[in-house]
Amino acid sequence: MNDVNFTIASQDRDPGTILLAHYYAPAAIRQAADFVGDSLELSRFAQTTQANRIVFAGVRFMAETAKLLNPDAEVLLPDAGSTCSLVEQTSLDQLTAWIDRERGKTDKPIAHVSYINSSVQHKAVSDWIVTSRNAEDIIGSLIDSGHRILFSPDRNMGSYFRYMHPEWDIKVWNAVCEVHDAFREQELDVLFQAWTDGPKFLLAHPESPLPILKRAHLVGSTTRMLDWVKAYQGSGTIYVATEIELINVMQAARPDLDIRVASSYTGCQCHACPYMKRNTEEAVLTALQGTDGVQIDYIDDDLAKAARAPILRMLSFEQ
Ligand code: 13P
Ligand code: SF4
Repeated sequence: MNDVNFTIASQDRDPGTILLAHYYAPAAIRQAADFVGDSLELSRFAQTTQANRIVFAGVRFMAETAKLLNPDAEVLLPDAGSTCSLVEQTSLDQLTAWIDRERGKTDKPIAHVSYINSSVQHKAVSDWIVTSRNAEDIIGSLIDSGHRILFSPDRNMGSYFRYMHPEWDIKVWNAVCEVHDAFREQELDVLFQAWTDGPKFLLAHPESPLPILKRAHLVGSTTRMLDWVKAYQGSGTIYVATEIELINVMQAARPDLDIRVASSYTGCQCHACPYMKRNTEEAVLTALQGTDGVQIDYIDDDLAKAARAPILRMLSFEQ
């Protein structure tokens, strides 16, 4: 615990500064934020805000995306260590060698579709950026127009698309989210065999392993799962394979429902994203005050132009 007096309610801040938070950020940060969302909603918000300073309580690729979409705003990441395992496990040299190799294997048009959880350099060698909200729709439309897809970096999400659409011509990179990839089918078996009243449901984020996704009643992005829970009218137990903070948000939104993490680690901080949790009160407060934090001001113009184009393509597909 830090000993900072966390007084960052919006009235205490410079009016030109906003605080954005992902659902996985700690509760105190989300409560103080001007906007909380999933990665797609946060991108859209960052693109259109009139604020001239954005403190981004998420991870680095989210703050970088905000800067690409709103280059005139000052964007600050509270902690330099807020990375993502999908980014860290993807070497740019190996990625570009893979793309070149695959391009040489076919006469078909190739679309390199990258998940938004990627570095700026990775985005710059992509044709499309997608999030867990729109990946299936965007890839489906590229397949319909005759493309072979190279999907990077999330292996689990890519494997799920191959499983759901065996007819799709899609090659998949091999990185994982360390938080979602830790869910295990064997633990699910134990949970599902345990006695509880009523039906059992499984909701899973598509970064989870394929055996979990195959058994899920709903595979969806952060907001899609949250919306499902908010709207659910039945009874029973809802197991969720995702980051623990989102499960806390679901439980707070629907205290009448029995919502549990889909692993045997109930009650502990397992399945917590260590990178999101670096948005401590102290780090966010000092970023808001302008005394600390990482300025996202290191992306040169050519790189920004190349990385922005596939993100804008995604946002116009969405409209
Ligand atoms: P969402 O796009 O669902 O917000 O997911 C982002 C993420 O990092 C999940 O681990
Ligand atoms: Fe990356 Fe996984 Fe953390 Fe999301 S939960 S930011 S994918 S490590």
